Amino acid sequence: MKDTLDTAVDQMPVKGFLDLKGLEIPTGDDLIKAILDLKKEKNAVILAHYYQPGPIQDIADFLGDSLQLARQAKDTDADMIAFCGVHFMAEAAKILNPNKKVVLPDTLAGCSLADGCSGEGLRKMREKYPNALVATYINCNAETKAESDIIVTSSNAETIIEALPKDRPVIFAPDKNLGRYLSKKTGRDMILWDGSCIVHEAFSMERIAKQLAEHPNAKLIAHPESESPVLELAHFIGSTSALLNYVEKDDCQEFIIATEEGILHEMKKRAPHKTLIPALVFDESCNCSECFYMKRNTLEKLYLCMKYELPEIIIDEELRLKALKPIEAMLELSKSIK
Ligand code: 13P
Ligand code: SF4
Repeated sequence: MKDTLDTAVDQMPVKGFLDLKGLEIPTGDDLIKAILDLKKEKNAVILAHYYQPGPIQDIADFLGDSLQLARQAKDTDADMIAFCGVHFMAEAAKILNPNKKVVLPDTLAGCSLADGCSGEGLRKMREKYPNALVATYINCNAETKAESDIIVTSSNAETIIEALPKDRPVIFAPDKNLGRYLSKKTGRDMILWDGSCIVHEAFSMERIAKQLAEHPNAKLIAHPESESPVLELAHFIGSTSALLNYVEKDDCQEFIIATEEGILHEMKKRAPHKTLIPALVFDESCNCSECFYMKRNTLEKLYLCMKYELPEIIIDEELRLKALKPIEAMLELSKSIK
């Protein structure tokens, strides 16, 4: 059973151009088998984020949050990393493990946070505050990382901000919502870059308040990329892995989930008897909270990127070394975090 994949034709490769028109792609079980065969043949590892489409999560060797995925990418002894997430995540894998081939199923799998904060923009901001330390969310590109003193993820951000010298101002980029949340948690004033996640800023506090009223026994759990009014309503706030652990361990049986809906795939597996309700967004015509960047990856594109080893993440060595420093500083300060 063979098929062709027209939807991937608009892909822009990072290195080399793969003309997908007319390429044969197995379907159904044959596709799964072909991916597993390629994995063996190429000594590859498949890493996937919790927001990936379900079939990709199911075939991954490792599923995790941004911090866990960065650690896996650093430590793997596979020859090829097929990174099922968005571009900044695959790029971080390459920065950490330059001798491995890193491929991403779809190079247009971007991120509104990363796109909204250039290295040059951050350099200009730090010129305005020469005494400030720059803490940057991992959701940014290599040039932006290279302008940072330390990188954080949603799992370790609070620990890292607490550890920064108290006598220095802190610039936090690019997520103003996460920055505001951290500022409140740590009591530390921060100079915030004006960026946000298009998925998390779409949650509607009013509609979620109604959901809570309709489900009086439910708890609202939210990712800190959500806006303050939603976070203020939340019973628990945490990274994707923290949200998963909370749903699994907490006694409550019903949860309203304010983060990208791909997480429900793993949540249902870990807490099969609990009721999981996606939080509502402003747009009443759509109850979904999907990141269309994350959902650009498909099993077909995963197969193709492993077979043709394209699109491949390539990074200039000088830039890589500059971007590596703040990531290593993060890994050092977050050893205690799982
Ligand atoms: P974590 O998985 O690190 O919580 O963050 C997810 C993310 O920012 C992707 O949008
Ligand atoms: Fe970026 Fe938001 Fe998508 Fe995460 S969910 S990849 S922060 S746009």
